[in-house]
Amino acid sequence: MCPNRWLVVCVAVVHLAGRAVRGDGDFYTAGVAEFRPAVVGGSSEQLLEENLSAYLELIAAANGTSDILVFPEATLNSVLKLTAVPEQTENSLCEKQDGDDPQVAEFLRRLACAARSARTYLVVNVKERSEEDPVPSRGYNIYNTNVVFDRNGAVVSRYRKWNLYLEPLTNRTKSAELAIFRTDFGVTFGHFICFDMLFYSPAQELVERLSIRHLIVTKMFNSELPFLTATQLQQGWAWANNVTLLAAGASIPLSGISGSGIYAGQHGALTRIMVVNQTEGQRQLLLAQVPTGRSPWMPTNTTIRNEGDGAAVVKLKLLQQPDIGNFSTWALPLVNGSSASKRLCQADLCCDFQLSWSLLGAQSEYHYRLGVSVAERRYEEEQYSSIRVCGLFACRDGSPESCGLLSNQTVGGGGGVEFTSLWISGEFVKRQRRLLMPNTLASSLYALQPSEVAWTLQEVPGNDTHTHTEMELRQPHRHLLTFALYGNYFDEFASNGGARTEAAVWRGILMMWLLTLVIHILWK
Ligand SMILES: *[C@@H]1O[C@H](CO)[C@@H](O)[C@H](O)[C@H]1NC(C)=O
Ligand SMILES: *[C@@H]1O[C@H](CO)[C@@H](O)[C@H](O)[C@H]1NC(C)=O
Ligand SMILES: *[C@@H]1O[C@H](CO)[C@@H](O)[C@H](O)[C@H]1NC(C)=O
Ligand SMILES: *[C@@H]1O[C@H](CO)[C@@H](O)[C@H](O)[C@H]1NC(C)=O
Ligand SMILES: *[C@@H]1O[C@H](CO)[C@@H](O)[C@H](O)[C@H]1NC(C)=O
Ligand SMILES: *[C@@H]1O[C@H](CO)[C@@H](O)[C@H](O)[C@H]1NC(C)=O
Ligand SMILES: *[C@@H]1O[C@H](CO)[C@@H](O)[C@H](O)[C@H]1NC(C)=O
Ligand SMILES: *[C@@H]1O[C@H](CO)[C@@H](O)[C@H](O)[C@H]1NC(C)=O
Ligand SMILES: *[C@@H]1O[C@H](CO)[C@@H](O)[C@H](O)[C@H]1NC(C)=O
Ligand SMILES: *[C@@H]1O[C@H](CO)[C@@H](O)[C@H](O)[C@H]1NC(C)=O
Repeated sequence: MCPNRWLVVCVAVVHLAGRAVRGDGDFYTAGVAEFRPAVVGGSSEQLLEENLSAYLELIAAANGTSDILVFPEATLNSVLKLTAVPEQTENSLCEKQDGDDPQVAEFLRRLACAARSARTYLVVNVKERSEEDPVPSRGYNIYNTNVVFDRNGAVVSRYRKWNLYLEPLTNRTKSAELAIFRTDFGVTFGHFICFDMLFYSPAQELVERLSIRHLIVTKMFNSELPFLTATQLQQGWAWANNVTLLAAGASIPLSGISGSGIYAGQHGALTRIMVVNQTEGQRQLLLAQVPTGRSPWMPTNTTIRNEGDGAAVVKLKLLQQPDIGNFSTWALPLVNGSSASKRLCQADLCCDFQLSWSLLGAQSEYHYRLGVSVAERRYEEEQYSSIRVCGLFACRDGSPESCGLLSNQTVGGGGGVEFTSLWISGEFVKRQRRLLMPNTLASSLYALQPSEVAWTLQEVPGNDTHTHTEMELRQPHRHLLTFALYGNYFDEFASNGGARTEAAVWRGILMMWLLTLVIHILWK
């Protein structure tokens, strides 16, 4: 399966019922690549070549069976090797045409050729050089751009990232682009990039305003406990919106970056990966048969092989939610055979909890707390959200500040606490732009599948101020890290200039990015 140390190409296929039939089929074959970029050990030419040849090898590994393949953000070219990206082309980009933009790089053409020989749609993310709207000092703009090829290698869609996260050299378009494309298998996709997923425009807008049911995201995402690890967020977002999500993530576990998957809305993950227990990222293509949604579909088995109960050693460097110590919390007594019924409130959010648990051994790997929080969250570029969240989460020790830190002790026999029942309900205030998500995480760092958890949203008749939502464990669980209702309120934040927390989040992405840049400059 994994023949070569430098290019570990593993192809995991999830076979579900049905075959892709072009045009009007019930399924299509999609692939997402979890991809470790080459960042050291050569000139920028050589590194680009290494990234590119690994891309080509993964595309070839799909054998022409795929309808669409997605590669992650920022894993191909660097700002030293920019390329122009046409908005759309009639012909394949594989061959040069008269009148082509001379700034279209050779590597982009080779990817167009690869899409054509594999007969697949192909989504890649590049650092783009654009001379429209030129900037006097530099002569061009740089965008963080997704480009989509059709099966012939023609460009069918381009999207320039709107919600930049600490990308100092990168420009933004004047407004958020809503990038969509229709395929020959009858599915219309919308696509966006990483940090966009936490905001209304364009990600949520594609779903709500344009009614797009199949979304693609390219990512380089730094995971944060307890609510925002990569596949946890991907799966919760897809479920909350009840849409299909193809998410391809960069794989750099030492910087906290990993996480890819294919999610079928309320049916959960069809395939997913989170590189948790090793320092080196992976290059792996995950393939799945994805329902188009044209006919009703029930998965026969959403158990995903080889995920395990949790890595003995976690090498993935995780961030911690910065204000976890400010939650209103209640600590579960670590007493065998306990149960509790609690109501916790903070500001305008109240949640009810009912749960029972037993201890599996004398010592528990984690402490647990129930918590509620209503807080503003600031990101870079003056972007804010309000987060309303309530749930159960694991803590390293007895202090609230240790919640969201992984245990540093290994206790035999698994997590140490078995939740035999667990039910949460919350009354979430309504707003125009808001997304309420089920948010769960097991110690494997994967979200619980819908077979393990039930989640419902309910508009109470006659109540136009609050939404009732509840979530319940369907079967006892021994490896829980998080079990929460997570509300992202996109446009709501204190405008009074009051105390705001400096964002300590996703800083790793910047560090990574700068590091890469420095390495390049040194190598030049
Ligand atoms: C390979 O991809 C990484 C991530 O974008 C980049 O830093 C590296 O420089 C790439 N190789 C080149 C030279 O483009
Ligand atoms: C690709 O083709 C080879 C040889 O026919 C086969 O063994 C392999 O399973 C195929 N891979 C996929 C993803 O279909
Ligand atoms: C693009 O970004 C550069 C570097 O941050 C900046 O100097 C320039 O003004 C930006 N261009 C536009 C059109 O905003
Ligand atoms: C989710 O979407 C599917 C179709 O894709 C639909 O059949 C189902 O009713 C939806 N579920 C909810 C809760 O809206
Ligand atoms: C990491 O975990 C996976 C899945 O549990 C396992 O197959 C693999 O051998 C582990 N790798 C290391 C380096 O421990
Ligand atoms: C579901 O799939 C998993 C992994 O392939 C397998 O271990 C399990 O037995 C299957 N369950 C059922 C009910 O078929
Ligand atoms: C916690 O709340 C206090 C008081 O409102 C505030 O000053 C502090 O910045 C908050 N801490 C974080 C990390 O948000
Ligand atoms: C907790 O109680 C259960 C059921 O009474 C028992 O089987 C188990 O051994 C107890 N665990 C501990 C750590 O005492
Ligand atoms: C584990 O964490 C506790 C408190 O969080 C700390 O006191 C202890 O030194 C840590 N142990 C190790 C082995 O890191
Ligand atoms: C709507 O629900 C909230 C939360 O339960 C409650 O406080 C409020 O009184 C309800 N409003 C009406 C009109 O029933």
